[in-house]
Amino acid sequence: MTQIVYLNGDFLPIESAKISVLDRGFLFGDGVYEVIPVYGGKPFRLAEHLQRLENSLEGIRMESPLATSDWEAIFARLVDGTEDQSIYLQVTRGAPPKRDHAFPKNTPPTVFAMCTPIAPIPASGVCAITVPDIRWQWCHIKAITLLANVLQRQQAVDAGCAEAILVRDGQAIEGAASNLFVVSGGTIVTPPKGNDILPGITRDLTVEIAHANGIPCEERPISLNELRAASEVWVTSSTREILPVVMLDQSPVGDGAPGPVWQRMNSLYQEHKLRLRQGL
Ligand code: PDD
Repeated sequence: MTQIVYLNGDFLPIESAKISVLDRGFLFGDGVYEVIPVYGGKPFRLAEHLQRLENSLEGIRMESPLATSDWEAIFARLVDGTEDQSIYLQVTRGAPPKRDHAFPKNTPPTVFAMCTPIAPIPASGVCAITVPDIRWQWCHIKAITLLANVLQRQQAVDAGCAEAILVRDGQAIEGAASNLFVVSGGTIVTPPKGNDILPGITRDLTVEIAHANGIPCEERPISLNELRAASEVWVTSSTREILPVVMLDQSPVGDGAPGPVWQRMNSLYQEHKLRLRQGL
């Protein structure tokens, strides 16, 4: 069956959705995006994702092209069935008549959205590598300009791993497309929000669930040494949920299997999803 996508007000088959070669997303990576998981046919933490979109747009000096109700109507048409899926949406600064770095005048944004199935996460965990964080200084903006992340993730894939953990000035920051958690002395630790990380929605939910269940959890920097000594390492994202890292730079994390704190957090996370699916 042909996939239907949204582009600038129209719903059309993905093969017919075309943008101009002058689109600033294509020429400059001048745009922002969101990835929103959909469980049981319902977008997960929609208000939080749309708020982050708003913040990203503000960060690149763009106005929001659509109201919350418009996004909701678009997603309702794109979401197909009740299987786990994710909405990808992207807003660029549009396609003016000529290429120029400076903002164009009177150019409508390009707005695109599509929905794709989410692959189940490997419960046996994954391996990761550490790499230098070569990204820019505004990583809190969910910009489509992802060349550094693409290179870092590919480095992980080349090493037979699922994720690259980015290290800057001796601190473990986040994954190439995920946030970072470690378990250190029985406490869950994740780096604090700031310009150097994306404020992940899954990260926030993980912290929230930990607090609500009396599991010790701190938001503070994680040194590379602490990462290497951690009994558990996880990466979180909308498409990978809470994913245990069992090998780091070819050495086992803890005893090389998903740890007990992950087991607990993951079951709490799955219960949370289930309640949402059941409309509770
Ligand atoms: N990426 N950090 C980075 C750099 C990310 O790209 C992502 C998500 C996250 C986790 O954020 P969230 O929990 O809100 O998904 C953290 C998405 C999934 C992507 O680029 O496909």
